[in-house]
Amino acid sequence: MKTEILSCVKVEKKRGEEIRRALKELKLLRTDARITSNDNFIYLPLTRELKEDEKGELEVDEIPTREFKVLEQRRDIEDLIGFKPSYEIVGDIAVLTEITAGNEQLAAHALMNLHKNIKVVAKRISPVEGVFRKRKVEIIAGENRTETMHKENGCRYKLDLEKVYFNPRLASERNRVVSQIECSERGEIIDMFAGVGSFSIQIAKRAPQSHIDAIDINPIAIQYLRENIKLNGVRNVEAIEGDIREIYVKFRNKAVRIIMNLPKSAYLFLSEALCMLNSQGGIIHFYDVESSYVNAGKRKSPETAIARAKEKLMTKINEACEREGFHLQSLDILDARKVKPYAPYAYIIGIDAVIKCTG
Ligand SMILES: C[S@@+](CC[C@H](N)C(=O)[O-])C[C@H]1O[C@@H](n2cnc3c(N)ncnc32)[C@H](O)[C@@H]1O
Repeated sequence: MKTEILSCVKVEKKRGEEIRRALKELKLLRTDARITSNDNFIYLPLTRELKEDEKGELEVDEIPTREFKVLEQRRDIEDLIGFKPSYEIVGDIAVLTEITAGNEQLAAHALMNLHKNIKVVAKRISPVEGVFRKRKVEIIAGENRTETMHKENGCRYKLDLEKVYFNPRLASERNRVVSQIECSERGEIIDMFAGVGSFSIQIAKRAPQSHIDAIDINPIAIQYLRENIKLNGVRNVEAIEGDIREIYVKFRNKAVRIIMNLPKSAYLFLSEALCMLNSQGGIIHFYDVESSYVNAGKRKSPETAIARAKEKLMTKINEACEREGFHLQSLDILDARKVKPYAPYAYIIGIDAVIKCTG
């Protein structure tokens, strides 16, 4: 760590906090320099010399100079290479998601320089696509592999980012859903599109008395899910490989809670979800993608996307009930929020709803 000689306020320890706050408020405190002290005094590094009236106001008279340790500014990728590519980090792999052709090597080496734990840099070469919601990547630098171990909210997920879906940008959304669940929650929770278990395992840890059926159609996602169940030492998750449309009847009337993380298509599976929900009532955590265009595309508003998603969900639930002959007793939206941008004028919207229907 480097040091600098700086002017500072020398003040008795008992007044230290009061003066530190006042200096910070006046933007006179050097926040990148480490405050020092001895038995009686505290030394607060300054951004500039104090004027006489400032000294009077703060009731300080000693402005000595002193050597301070100064924190080095964390460099970001733009400082190193002059542009800022979009990327995400999954375990020890950085995935460039938007980069001008020809700049890949430069960005890759800068990323490995900045993040010492990164062992692979890849570039996304296809969107997330197909039933398994996979994407293709090309290795740009580092080791030649796409398998990694990602840590999130106290859980570990082994996954191959070309063979399964995984999005590290959903970490806070997963945390938000998990923290709604009481630690004492019991009963059946169904994760209809579980992937490698990113929701299921966090829920299982949070509510050990619940039982989670984690379903996915992608056999490789299920293989990783089984490994992740062991890795995280959870006993209350069952990994089930299959198409939810073919197996949902096994779970008729069972679930107190259902996770439906298949944005864009989740509403196509509402009949199955309603059939699986407990007739005493249950909660669905539903994800959709909605456009945020307003005024024929002149303005974008997340609120518009949220309102559209809520309205669409209510319409689709009513349609599903009519189609299946269910009686919808109540439908309450607990929360609807923007989860993350999906495209320039569209967002992923998360909706939590309590539904009671019998059929
Ligand atoms: C957007 S991913 C979500 C994965 C996981 N919930 C997460 O947040 O990481 C959707 C998952 O649904 C699975 N899927 C798609 N259609 C399905 C179906 N009909 N039945 C079961 N799983 C399906 C895909 O294989 C994919 O893993």
